[in-house]
Amino acid sequence: MTHMHVALPPLGWNSWNTFGSNISDELIRETARIMKEKGYLEAGYKYIVIDDCWSLRERDENGKLVPDPQKFPHGMKALADYVHSLGFKFGMYSCAGVMTCAGYPSSYDHEYEDARQFAEWGVDFLKYDFCYFPENADNRHRYATMSMALKASGRDILLSACNWGSGEPWKWMKSVGAGMYRSTGDIFDNFRSFSSIFKSQMENFCMSGPGCFNDIDMLTVGMYGKGNVGLGAKCTDEDYRTQFAMWCMFSAPLMLGGDVRNMNEFCEKLVLNKDLLRINQDEECRPPYISYRGRVICSGFEENGETVGWREFPDCGLVMIKHMSDNEFAMAYFNLADHPATVTGTFADMGIPYKSGVGLDLKDVFTGESLGVKRDYYNAEVPGHGCKVYLAKMKHV
Ligand code: GAL
Repeated sequence: MTHMHVALPPLGWNSWNTFGSNISDELIRETARIMKEKGYLEAGYKYIVIDDCWSLRERDENGKLVPDPQKFPHGMKALADYVHSLGFKFGMYSCAGVMTCAGYPSSYDHEYEDARQFAEWGVDFLKYDFCYFPENADNRHRYATMSMALKASGRDILLSACNWGSGEPWKWMKSVGAGMYRSTGDIFDNFRSFSSIFKSQMENFCMSGPGCFNDIDMLTVGMYGKGNVGLGAKCTDEDYRTQFAMWCMFSAPLMLGGDVRNMNEFCEKLVLNKDLLRINQDEECRPPYISYRGRVICSGFEENGETVGWREFPDCGLVMIKHMSDNEFAMAYFNLADHPATVTGTFADMGIPYKSGVGLDLKDVFTGESLGVKRDYYNAEVPGHGCKVYLAKMKHV
């Protein structure tokens, strides 16, 4: 029996957010080619995952899952071989219930046969969903069953559990052998959706680490309202910066959900930002802590042509710290209000009061600019829905 050790948050791409059921052999090959060409693979995005809607509506007469021959005319083995030949890992999708969420056959009571089939095709990653789950079945038991089936398949296959937080998986999914677990419902490409997903997991920051990571869903960076989970309201560049920074600070798995073949320059630079990826992939994988959560004050409001001064937005300011290896910190300042505000990070709240004799040497990860050594506090001017992220080194002064 092999044991898969998931030491760092998995990085990759998943078809669902943009493409939904509109997937094909060609799309996956093209995506893989582009991800290699543009440096995504080198940056660490190594899993290419086909989500729901890849099979026929029925199993064959031997009970096997059959890839839809129109979408995948060369079969899954050939596609996996191609993806592997470029250096990526290959991911697929099934579900712990009797049907997938989109109504295709899934693995309840077929765990061992399906796991063997995935292994034969060369699958390295299995996203395992929770739709149409029998009322009389047991959540933990069925995830454990698929986990054992994968381990018995003879291939290292990362189990990416996706039960949307049902039965508090942060407390047990690691013990059944999953490498990551979805803790929330589905993301949509707007600020409210991703920020509330993130906030809902702030109590569970500490339940994610080497071996098993809290998965707050695939990113929507680059979608701008287009595609399967783009519904009218869409993210702006500032929103994407905030989304990606949140995911990085949390050491969340980074599964891109945009169309990487057509990412604009802003989003491409964002998801390939070396400092942000280093924060996400820091080998110590420490969860962040919150050094400030509370109001922000936005000033300069105008009413009827007159400036009426300032306004307070409760629970919109958030400062998070992540201790990294080599005595480095990542500090993220978020302003969740929709107007610009000054957000204060107080070093005493990070365990570095003035009398410690230590200051923080700051670098802005978005501009690369060095800000020098600061003491006591650092104020950041943060746009509405925006964030500032700094890498900080302790310096004796
Ligand atoms: C949902 C899941 C999504 C996607 C979808 C496919 O349950 O949370 O991430 O996989 O099913 O139908």
